[in-house]
Amino acid sequence: MSHNSFGHLFRVTTFGESHGPAIGCIVDGCPPGIALTEADIQIDLDRRRPGQSKYTTQRQEADAVRILSGVFQDERMKAQVTTGTPIALMIENTDAKSKDYSDIRDKFRPGHADYTYWAKYGVRDYRGGGRQSARETATRVAAGAVARKILTHLYSKEVNIRGALTQMGTETIDRKNWDWDEVANNPFFTPDAKAAARFATYLDGIRKKGSSIGAVVEVIADGIPVGLGAPLYGKLDADLASAIMSINAVKAVEIGDGMAVATLTGEENADEMRKGHKGAPEFLSNHAGGILGGISTGQPIVTRFAVKPTSSILTPRKTIDIDGNETEIFTKGRHDPCVGIRAVPVGEAMVACVLADHALRHRAQMG
Ligand SMILES: Cc1cc2nc3c(=O)[nH]c(=O)nc-3n(C[C@H](O)[C@H](O)[C@H](O)COP(=O)(O)O)c2cc1C
Repeated sequence: MSHNSFGHLFRVTTFGESHGPAIGCIVDGCPPGIALTEADIQIDLDRRRPGQSKYTTQRQEADAVRILSGVFQDERMKAQVTTGTPIALMIENTDAKSKDYSDIRDKFRPGHADYTYWAKYGVRDYRGGGRQSARETATRVAAGAVARKILTHLYSKEVNIRGALTQMGTETIDRKNWDWDEVANNPFFTPDAKAAARFATYLDGIRKKGSSIGAVVEVIADGIPVGLGAPLYGKLDADLASAIMSINAVKAVEIGDGMAVATLTGEENADEMRKGHKGAPEFLSNHAGGILGGISTGQPIVTRFAVKPTSSILTPRKTIDIDGNETEIFTKGRHDPCVGIRAVPVGEAMVACVLADHALRHRAQMG
């Protein structure tokens, strides 16, 4: 299985399986001299960690990260700092239960990647999804924490990449209630306290039926300066779309107004400009989502994505087995009823990785 790396100057290679001994990543290209500890990474991993509420998988993983290389305690700088060499990050799997998967070992879950992995590779890690499992996304979150450090180091503490769940099935937030502080107060990462209460009832119903539901996640990156992105084949929006689409279960990505631009007139879509302060223009709106011509405008960068409902469900579905026999399948075990919840920190991490990569690429070409 090739293609386990992404990024150019900030390059991440991930490794490991859901039911193997450990997962991890190598982060190559981090500049030297940046303070980095395990605690800096753990904060983000703790937000994605499974088993934190009844609304996510009950797999209990501490997701404790170890930095194996690329940093050292520099007494002169009075901090543990990056050395500019590859940063290896490792997370042990401590609660993998293969028994959950024994009934579906030879059957394909409709909507999952079981069939395509089998058809392509002729080998399927039936212990628990292997590389197709979203367990791998923990390593992206770890890499994203390093990316955030780079962005803050290069620009300022104003850089802030935050995600939120804005829709679950047919239930949506009221954008007028958007409060970033609320995101940490509910198990859904949603910025609307009233919607959180609705999501709870809605998802309880879905969960009790043994079903699952899709969701929409929005990630907003504040404090990113004008100029990131390399037209034509390294456009910032193209790279964001590719990175987000690489997350498990993502079926659509939008930048700014996304699909809704189809209904706008030129006047409505135009992000009008005024003189602003300190040489930077003021935009009167942000339909473009902070990117024009593949280059950041200095406005918030807005990425939105839809995830499909979890395909491992208790309701029996028609399928075939590896010998082509028609059969039925239902999936027991520990699964997320709405993968959109834990996809929030994953989306933030992928946006951070793309922006860190582009920040380094911008510096390389423009000085
Ligand atoms: C954070 C996260 C958690 C997920 N948890 C589950 C899960 O518990 N069970 C499951 O069947 N799929 C889960 N998925 C989705 C599958 O990993 C994904 O659907 C599968 O790998 C097939 O890939 P595709 O959906 O991108 O085509 C999760 C996805 C994400 C992003």
